[in-house]
Amino acid sequence: MDPDLAGRPPAPAAASRPPRGQAETVETAETVLITGASSGIGRELARLFAADGSRLVLVARQQDKLAELAAELAGKHQTQAQLIPADLSRPGSAGEVADALAQRHVDVDVLVNNAGFGAHGTVAGIGADRQADVINVNVVALTQLTALLLPAMLERRRGAILNVASTAAFQPGPHQAVYCATKSYVLSFTEALAEETRGSGVRVSCLAPGATDTGFAAQAGLTGTRLFRFGAMDAARVARAGHRGLRRGKTLIIPGAGNRILAFTTRLTPRALVTRIVAYLQA
Ligand SMILES: NC(=O)c1ccc[n+]([C@@H]2O[C@H](COP(=O)([O-])OP(=O)(O)OC[C@H]3O[C@@H](n4cnc5c(N)ncnc54)[C@H](OP(=O)(O)O)[C@@H]3O)[C@@H](O)[C@H]2O)c1
Repeated sequence: MDPDLAGRPPAPAAASRPPRGQAETVETAETVLITGASSGIGRELARLFAADGSRLVLVARQQDKLAELAAELAGKHQTQAQLIPADLSRPGSAGEVADALAQRHVDVDVLVNNAGFGAHGTVAGIGADRQADVINVNVVALTQLTALLLPAMLERRRGAILNVASTAAFQPGPHQAVYCATKSYVLSFTEALAEETRGSGVRVSCLAPGATDTGFAAQAGLTGTRLFRFGAMDAARVARAGHRGLRRGKTLIIPGAGNRILAFTTRLTPRALVTRIVAYLQA
């Protein structure tokens, strides 16, 4: 069994790293902002943080789905959830989210940059505007939200950031070239940030799932590809691995033993060969 998913009880809800040798303090009043909370992995993460007793700020375009989730969590856990509808592909949208937080006097303790999407096809075929949208959501909004919310966490010496990349981050991805490059960025950015913030009281983790059963594949046009025909992991299982890994201060979280083996062997395989294999899987 995957050692990260061994069914242990949930870790305490403290966002900050305790001093060495001290037990983690349970802190139920943290505020967790999750982008892309309207479906898939983001929605499952919201359910896990709500079960911890956290307050939530839910961000996505589909306000009706956010409201539905907020009602579910209020009923189950008495969760206080604020909704911020936002299209993160629009330049400036991260700043608007930060402005909305400031207007409502909300301090974010945990930032989960989960919103993201892909586009299946060739670079020549997909269209320049769509590629820019992928970069704006997966890279620009994630970077700007981090840059806008991190300084206050550092000041409080307390906080956590979970950025959602993908196993697509570990190699080039023909037929999804821009998406895979954005996820390589997320991985590199997050690992660098984890080192920059070491010892600051702010934890930074990167979640790198493999194929997962959400709306992602249909939206990206990937359902017919070998990659998704080989099977996809359950979104709740991916979210549990991310939630637990963040709580434990892991820098890189790859859910599932198979995905971890793939990520490892990719590093040992000639890059040109890996690129050809990915082209085959994503054709
Ligand atoms: N599913 C997989 O196979 C897989 C594998 C590895 C990594 N990932 C990553 O996991 C993350 C979550 O994806 P998922 O699999 O859960 O897919 P999903 O079910 O399609 O969820 C994507 C979420 O991102 C939000 N989003 C997309 N475009 C947005 C925009 N322009 N502005 C604001 N929010 C936007 C969506 O909300 P709205 O539509 O309401 O805006 C939705 O809540 C993504 O970063 C994805 O790249 C997925």
